[in-house]
Amino acid sequence: MKVAVFPGDGIGPEVTRQAVRVLEALDLPRLTLFEGDVGGIAYHRHGHPLPRETRDMARAADAVLFGAVGDPSCDGLERALRPEQAILGLRGELGLFANLRPAKTFAGLEAMSALRPEIARSIDLLIVRELNGDVYFGDKALETLPDGRRRGWDLMSYAEDEVRRIAHIAFSAAQGRKKRLCSVDKANVLETSQLWRNVVTEVAAEYPEVALEHMYVDNAAMQLVREPGRFDVVVTGNLFGDILSDQASMCVGSIGLLASAALGERRTEFGTFGLYEPIHGSAPDIAGQGKANPLATILSAAMMLRHSFGREAEAG
Ligand code: IPM
Ligand code: MG
Repeated sequence: MKVAVFPGDGIGPEVTRQAVRVLEALDLPRLTLFEGDVGGIAYHRHGHPLPRETRDMARAADAVLFGAVGDPSCDGLERALRPEQAILGLRGELGLFANLRPAKTFAGLEAMSALRPEIARSIDLLIVRELNGDVYFGDKALETLPDGRRRGWDLMSYAEDEVRRIAHIAFSAAQGRKKRLCSVDKANVLETSQLWRNVVTEVAAEYPEVALEHMYVDNAAMQLVREPGRFDVVVTGNLFGDILSDQASMCVGSIGLLASAALGERRTEFGTFGLYEPIHGSAPDIAGQGKANPLATILSAAMMLRHSFGREAEAG
């Protein structure tokens, strides 16, 4: 069970260190860990946020444990060299299209939530975020028009097979939970979302026991604070999933509490290959002060034990 550990920038190394301590304490016989550079630190050391050695390490591993990337000293670099390209590059190159982001309030921590305790207590949901498409991976440009005005654009698009495969992941997840799936889109305005909605509805026919509802993303943002307990599994595109998962984290209590698994089709000897990371960023403002909550990374390591290594007992 080879784990590539990529601590990255800011609080990444300190939260990753704690997750590694937990993994080591389990003393699993076949577990080996090796470390690589990603993000701003990799740029400063190797001239690229996702150096070749790191890519090779990820490919050779059975799972990746990822800290965080983001480094203000890189803000002026061209986009291809910015720290975020490390995580986007790994998600893209490794075909990790399914992002599972569970949000559940810990009993006793309701007071941390931005919501009233009785509302916070009801939260137990799973965001299934598509991770290989949408505006994240579409063509994009910053350009100057002939009349001298600057323009920026990013292409939002989904092909039906991309929607279908994430829909299957979400329906299967719902089947193993409370059998409710909410698909979030903006079909009242976007054609991309219209296709999303049509395809999710088609896939629903294969899962008669799962109750499907569609919701516009603005309404979903509202319902997530109004009545979060109504959600079981939420499936959505890359951009909406990014935003809603940060929102869900504050409903639970802290962005330092939400773990994630990015999965694709690759299977290893032990389970599904995956990349595991906290949903938070590198938080440079508190880096190195021992203040960052490592729980999201520890919980991500637990997801790794579950999905990549089939070690349900240790994951629990
Ligand atoms: C996340 C992060 C990333 C994203 C950034 C670091 C590129 O916000 O994993 O949610 O936008 O996907
Ligand atoms: Mg995010």
